[in-house]
Amino acid sequence: MKDKHEEIKEYYGKELTTSEDLKTNACCTMEEPPEHIKGALRNIHNEVLDKYYGCGLAIPAKIEGLRILDLGSGSGRDCYILSQLVGQEGEVIGVDMTDEQLNVANKHIDYHTEKFGYKHSNVKFLKGNMEKLEELNLEPNSFDLIISNCVINLATDKEKVLADVYNLLKPGGEMYFSDVYSDRRISKELQADPVLWGECLSGALYWNDFLRISRKVGFTDPRSVKNNPITIENKEVHEKCGDIQFFSVTYRLWKIDGLEDECEDYGQAVTYKGTIENNGSSFDLDDHHHFPKGKIMTVCGNTFLMLQATRYAEHFEFYGTWDTHYGVFEGCGGAMPFSTEEGGEAASCC
Ligand SMILES: C[S@@+](CC[C@H](N)C(=O)[O-])C[C@H]1O[C@@H](n2cnc3c(N)ncnc32)[C@H](O)[C@@H]1O
Repeated sequence: MKDKHEEIKEYYGKELTTSEDLKTNACCTMEEPPEHIKGALRNIHNEVLDKYYGCGLAIPAKIEGLRILDLGSGSGRDCYILSQLVGQEGEVIGVDMTDEQLNVANKHIDYHTEKFGYKHSNVKFLKGNMEKLEELNLEPNSFDLIISNCVINLATDKEKVLADVYNLLKPGGEMYFSDVYSDRRISKELQADPVLWGECLSGALYWNDFLRISRKVGFTDPRSVKNNPITIENKEVHEKCGDIQFFSVTYRLWKIDGLEDECEDYGQAVTYKGTIENNGSSFDLDDHHHFPKGKIMTVCGNTFLMLQATRYAEHFEFYGTWDTHYGVFEGCGGAMPFSTEEGGEAASCC
């Protein structure tokens, strides 16, 4: 029997030739990108776009000058978007283990360098297994941002991948990634099915196990940014999956000392200055923290830190201290945080 990694390489290197070959919409972004991303997409080579198999938009706001790692970068679509947004002085490294995908990504480096008007490329692609990142000799605490688009579900040891990500991030850095989650734990039998695994379904983590693993490795307060239900049109795949519901979710996981496992109230507040590019009138930290420009908003201690101890600090005014604790920050809950409606908002949590 082939091991999972060989099966995945075969699926993404040989079985699929373009996103048209996918049997479900799990590895297929449904959301409309914002205008500045649409503009960046127009500069990307068609061959790269054709082999895009992502399930969300794994690109946060304000990334100019950042050093970024993309896990499972595939044909390089997201890396080439990031390359434009970080600017000439930023740096983007994509890691993938499938030769055919890497070949497409590498083939178009010069085309994009010229298209973006850069003196030299700020992107490179490394061949490697994200479950063995230590083999790539990447320096600990050296990345501002680590992204991934529909890949972590394919890992057999997801906890190791997240622990390594935590280690590679700078303090105040973040993992911002889109992936597939399920509403229950998936049976061993379904996990053994190579098509269901390759289509990013049966490797999906039960969302509550994902939260547990994230917290265990140090990402104390995972924040969901966007979620959409996944529909399975293929009859055979649908029958195999039965009642399991799948969601495509974008999470942001901050590496910040001092985050607590619950949202606590210290009487703190912030005001957004309206100064983040492409976010002039408001800024969304996640799907339940919307900051209109100029409005004083009360926040829990964790949200305060996510704005004050990160690259967003200069774009906010901060009020209050840590001297007095007023109890739990109202509004947190423990229900499933995804909506079954497309484009749904989170159902709970501060
Ligand atoms: C669903 S595709 C997504 C590709 C890319 N992120 C995109 O949005 O087009 C999954 C990709 O992850 C890569 N991959 C899967 N498991 C991997 C692993 N353990 N290490 C490195 N790459 C992996 C596959 O080779 C494939 O290119």
